[in-house]
Amino acid sequence: MPELKVIKRSGEEVVIEATAGHSVMEAISASGAEDIAAICGGACACATCHVFVGDEFLDRTGAASEPEKELLDFSDNARPQSRLSCQIIMTEELSGLCVEVAPEEM
Ligand code: FES
Repeated sequence: MPELKVIKRSGEEVVIEATAGHSVMEAISASGAEDIAAICGGACACATCHVFVGDEFLDRTGAASEPEKELLDFSDNARPQSRLSCQIIMTEELSGLCVEVAPEEM
């Protein structure tokens, strides 16, 4: 199983197991490592699963789609490393991926 390093909102780092073919959002939610609202259930329609991808993994996670970019544009916390975690699908090759959970937005 691929591993995923999660930097929680508190700053604590945890390593969790993910399932290849499932999203980073699903892995974080299933592990209970952090409370991600994921209101739309992974349909790229809410941006409550916002994470920052570690710089060294940006080229490996691919680019955000246009609908994803549009949602991130509304975030007060957007950075160049921003992605919606429901749109990053884990693979064995992505094992070791590091993501930081973005602050919750009001
Ligand atoms: S869970 Fe809604 S955009 Fe990711």
